[in-house]
Amino acid sequence: MDVLRIKGGQPLYGEVEVSGAKNACLPLFAACLLTDQECILENVPDLADVRFMAELLRHLGASVEKLDTHTWKIEAKNIETRAPYDLVRKMRASVCLMGPLLGRCRQAEISLPGGCVIGPRPIDLHLKGFTRMGCEITTEKGYVHLDGKAMRGSQVFLGGRHGSTVLGTANILMAAVLTPGVTRIESSACEPEVVDLCHFLQAMGADIEGVGSHELVVTGVQKLKGARHAVIPDRIEAGTLLIAAAMTRGNLLVKGLRPGHLTALLDKLEEVGVSFSQESPSAIRVQGGDTYQPVDIVTLPHPGFPTDLQAQMCALMAITPGLSIVTEKIYPNRFMHVPELQRMGADIAIEGHSAIIKGNKILSGAPVMASDLRASAALVLAGLAASGETWVQRIYHLDRGYEKLEQKLSQVGARIERLDESALPAEFSEE
Ligand code: EPU
Repeated sequence: MDVLRIKGGQPLYGEVEVSGAKNACLPLFAACLLTDQECILENVPDLADVRFMAELLRHLGASVEKLDTHTWKIEAKNIETRAPYDLVRKMRASVCLMGPLLGRCRQAEISLPGGCVIGPRPIDLHLKGFTRMGCEITTEKGYVHLDGKAMRGSQVFLGGRHGSTVLGTANILMAAVLTPGVTRIESSACEPEVVDLCHFLQAMGADIEGVGSHELVVTGVQKLKGARHAVIPDRIEAGTLLIAAAMTRGNLLVKGLRPGHLTALLDKLEEVGVSFSQESPSAIRVQGGDTYQPVDIVTLPHPGFPTDLQAQMCALMAITPGLSIVTEKIYPNRFMHVPELQRMGADIAIEGHSAIIKGNKILSGAPVMASDLRASAALVLAGLAASGETWVQRIYHLDRGYEKLEQKLSQVGARIERLDESALPAEFSEE
């Protein structure tokens, strides 16, 4: 296993390019199952989760070829409909295979994904949506069996206790595009990743109205064709880099992003007092300052503040003198980064679903443990801004969702290295 060693206190200077969005890309791979023709996906991030998804599609019988680092060709001539536990358990996003398998084959058998460290992640809304469309669902021995022979377009409501569901919307959408009749998806998620999926499906010949809104109207077609599509930039990676620049008080141009996908973050950074400017339609420069203001943040479905940037914002607020309150409304217990930030000197208390942060000017480097993807990113940011050395362990979490993060950061001046865990000082090692 690898570890990251970060020598903090170095401002980030220069230019950095954002990769394609992991969370857009996984449903796009699944959508390729909806046609027997060839699909080409470009701007695909080079990540562990993408490789898992490719493995799953191959298991289902698709031919999946990596044409170059960021381009994949997928052709699903004949496909199977059973996704087994040993593959599904590696990645929760495999649940979004249900929609395309139902759309194309009218049946699916998928192992139920297990728990997840960021909290319970039920799929009741996905299943409720399929049921509304006439699908018969049974659960046996850890597998969901979906029989969609009688499926028809219908009215589906996807609002839940924590808002809509992103992968649930993707699932219903992918089933509906090949289901006879009109499916009206109400309270659908409108995250940019869902919009990207709609655009790909439309390029394949799907009939979808209301793209980008909370009501998608899908008229089923008989067949879809192959298409070529470039994945949108990763707004969460972009946001992480912008926050890194602010935390290290650097001067960084983050390129290849879509500012319109980052409105809630930019609004908060402005309130904090971080100066930034849009240098082109796809680039934002952050110039870190000396004094920042504490802020209150509440995570919400898009266009609200994204839960996937909550941990990174906690790191920024931990070095911003004053009292900040960060409330998590999507995954109420997603605060695994807090005990690790505390090890670096952060003054944070958890009250219910909020982190109460009394910012200090400086954190001090320490050995810390990554627990999930975004928590790992927060620890890297904290390490970049801290005094002394930070060792981040279990960085396989980071590798699932950030393409070559340490290389990108070191190119703009960070002192960060990936090392084998044998390099870890004995007193820091896990055993
Ligand atoms: N929910 C239900 N029932 C359902 C589905 C969801 O109650 O059937 C609840 C969830 O427990 C949660 C909320 O609804 O409280 C939102 O969950 P959602 O279904 O939208 O999440 P997801 O689609 O499983 C995607 C991203 C997550 C991101 C969330 C929210 C992918 C592969 N994952 O998950 O990304 O946090 O949307 O925006 O797209 C990450 O990248 O680190 C990550 C966790």
